[in-house]
Amino acid sequence: MSREIRVTFQPSGRSVYVLPGTILLEAAARAGFVIETPCGGSGTCGKCLIRIVSGECTDCTDAEGCLSSEQAADGYRLACQCRIQDTLIVEIPESSLFQAVQKILSSDTGDKLEVDPAVKKRFVEIPEPAHGDSHSDAELLVKALNRGTPTVTTLQQLPETLREADFRATATLCGDRIIRVQAGDTSAASYGIAFDIGTTTIVGTIVDLVTGTDLAVASMMNPQTSFGDDVLSRIKKCREESGGLEVLHTTVVEAVNKVAGDAARQAGIDASDIYMAVFAGNTTMQQILCRIDPRALGELPFLPAFRDMVNLKATDIGLSIYPDAEVVVFPQIGGFVGGDTVAGIIATRLDQQSEPSLLVDVGTNGEIVLSHGGRLTATSVAAGPAFEGARIINGMRAMQGAIEKVVFNSDVEFNVIGNMKPSGICGTGLIDVTAAMLRAGVLDSTGRILGQEEIPPEVPERIRNRIIADNGQFNFVLADGEASATGDRLSLYQKDIRELQLANGAIRAGISILLNRAGLSADDLGSVLLAGAFGNFIRRSNARRIGMLPQISRSKIRFVGNTASFGAKMVLLSKEESSYAARIVEKTEHLDLSTSPEFQMEFGAAMLFPEDDV
Ligand code: FES
Repeated sequence: MSREIRVTFQPSGRSVYVLPGTILLEAAARAGFVIETPCGGSGTCGKCLIRIVSGECTDCTDAEGCLSSEQAADGYRLACQCRIQDTLIVEIPESSLFQAVQKILSSDTGDKLEVDPAVKKRFVEIPEPAHGDSHSDAELLVKALNRGTPTVTTLQQLPETLREADFRATATLCGDRIIRVQAGDTSAASYGIAFDIGTTTIVGTIVDLVTGTDLAVASMMNPQTSFGDDVLSRIKKCREESGGLEVLHTTVVEAVNKVAGDAARQAGIDASDIYMAVFAGNTTMQQILCRIDPRALGELPFLPAFRDMVNLKATDIGLSIYPDAEVVVFPQIGGFVGGDTVAGIIATRLDQQSEPSLLVDVGTNGEIVLSHGGRLTATSVAAGPAFEGARIINGMRAMQGAIEKVVFNSDVEFNVIGNMKPSGICGTGLIDVTAAMLRAGVLDSTGRILGQEEIPPEVPERIRNRIIADNGQFNFVLADGEASATGDRLSLYQKDIRELQLANGAIRAGISILLNRAGLSADDLGSVLLAGAFGNFIRRSNARRIGMLPQISRSKIRFVGNTASFGAKMVLLSKEESSYAARIVEKTEHLDLSTSPEFQMEFGAAMLFPEDDV
């Protein structure tokens, strides 16, 4: 294993360890930063600007001739062009980060989208009632606001609050409901929280509802994973155990409250000043959050309990934010095409793309949406857990000790999360090693690992020697016992390749069917947008080599980050985005492939790896 190099990113101070020669753009992605790459890393857009604070990279390429002499003198480079050679400290300017919300807020025409949340505060100075005035406190408040109806909670607060600051008060309005009244002017303290509730992770972002800026992000593993890794295990628990739904609901609400509390602490605000929460997640997670039985999602015809946006009060589901806070749960498209996909569509403006485009979110369930001529078609495929490292003999999640990147040189080189001896391989490493084996001719297009005598003579000796016969099949050794953290040999087994083919084939079959039905081919696609946590770390050329993604130019494949969070933030900040999300659900055709013979046919064909790279 080569010596790994530490790269630290400023201003966050986050570090990663990577192999020498790694492109800086990739190291940034590994550290969780999604940098703008409109040209797909070909060095022509100049958008991936970063600054080398200290350390050495490879020399400037011709493409970096676009930098001004001042930029070059200040250490600016294009992240897609420079390769890491030495310990580095790198500054990523805010303007180089991909931020869907900011991108949408300043549209192509430069117009700012107005920050116009459903919840707003208004400070009012009410003339003190004179002796003999027969108006009630509520009437005085409504008159001053010129609108609204106080909730019971507000009525309970009203008499004392109004008199506390001589009838100078701030009302919090959600539509026409006056949900809170506070003494004095508190209009600047108005916050919301956007949640991405995934099967594996829960992420919460606190947003200032006055300025529209992000204040803090907190996340944690979804504790429901202790009941099973995927949504089907959660549905099964609800079906087979009395009280199963209650347990799952309580577990997720406790986790959401912890994330909200952590984020509020980070932001230095009081969680009781959070007046709105927006949730985007898959259908199972959203229904469990709302305490709606998800059993029907596991039975034909796989119907969700709701499609429209759900509006609740924080106390309806036990959220520890302001009790009367508005809670919005994203609308859903179909049984397995949930609010996170709708959020992805609005965050990327998928329906407004000028050329046919795909949005692909790869997980145990792969959600795929095709936008074509203003029309949207969405489907989901059961990719299985291979990309999460499950059902792979030495597989593991993308965590400390996981081989996350593999390259073939004179031998196999790999990157391990945490810069330690490997304990296993995660999804991105699996894609890398499979692509490298295909390119080297160690694996054929049927997915068979070839024996040492069958592979091309030019395959380096050390790589050749990693092929080990095993009961009439062959395995590929990634690390011997002394090089692994467990002391056991880590290998990629023939069975693992079959698991990958199932996951890969499902995604590819889903994409093919959407394209076929629209009368399109891969060449017609203007872009493929990769969403979700896993999507951000996939090496595009390798995903394309194994056939997971269409055989199109790498520059058309773009990472779009956590669009579930982005979309949820947009709905938090703008009533118009809320209506937009509702319109998206109306206009999206849902294609159920679960029992489709067409899918079975495509799936069979898609199990084969492409013969060649584009
Ligand atoms: S120049 Fe680096 S991504 Fe375009």
